[in-house]
Amino acid sequence: MPSITSDKKMVNAELSEASEAKSSIVPGINPSFQEQVSYGSPNLITRKTLKTTAPLGFRGLQTFSLPDLPYDYGDLEPAISSEIMQLHHQKHHQAYITNYNKALEQLDSAIAKGDASTVVKLQGAIKFNGGGHVNHSIFWKNLAPVREGGGEPPKASLGSAIDSHFGSLEALVQKMNAEGAALQGSGWVWLAVDKEFKRLVVETTANQDPLVTKGPSLVPLLGIDVWEHAYYLQYKNVRPDYLKNIWKVINWKYASEVYDKALD
Ligand SMILES: [Fe+2]
Repeated sequence: MPSITSDKKMVNAELSEASEAKSSIVPGINPSFQEQVSYGSPNLITRKTLKTTAPLGFRGLQTFSLPDLPYDYGDLEPAISSEIMQLHHQKHHQAYITNYNKALEQLDSAIAKGDASTVVKLQGAIKFNGGGHVNHSIFWKNLAPVREGGGEPPKASLGSAIDSHFGSLEALVQKMNAEGAALQGSGWVWLAVDKEFKRLVVETTANQDPLVTKGPSLVPLLGIDVWEHAYYLQYKNVRPDYLKNIWKVINWKYASEVYDKALD
């Protein structure tokens, strides 16, 4: 049985790998742009402590900043621990934003110089880090404390559509849990509505690929993060237990609103 110490080492290794992946995905970038977020800081107090001012690029480039969560870090317990929520939001999501902004600034500079090679080289970093920002921004809204309706089954049009497409909510949950558990490496499992064909679909994406990479008419209703950083501190290697429990804090009200709007 692995010790807590070795578990923490594994998590730290994953954090380090994620950091290195983001760094190595933009080879050739000036090291000053490669400043990494320091993981594991003990000074993680509130969900708002790292709200940052978006830096401006060379020509007034609009960059991104960490969005606040609509609840406190401990509000999703016991399904998701406060420690996971803090690290996930303040460190992981922030790291995607930091690296996305740096890549955008590099892109802005490369375009200004007519440096086509660098413009092309930056696409990987933009997809990975921009996807990380897009995906996590959705993920936070997909969760809600139980006292605020987290876990309450969808009603009205989305509830009916789920019954019609999948047989029942339980069948949908089983399908998403199975696909999420089977996803190799890191990625996301999604419930989406296809605006063109007006039907619900379950999809998976690898790494930080956003759902739009699977089809331009797909609108994400619910995205579940199956990266180890989303569950390892609490669930260790048992991803299925994380997937089983996350449904207790799913914000179906938000998913229903997005569904209705998408089909308007
Ligand atoms: Fe994540």
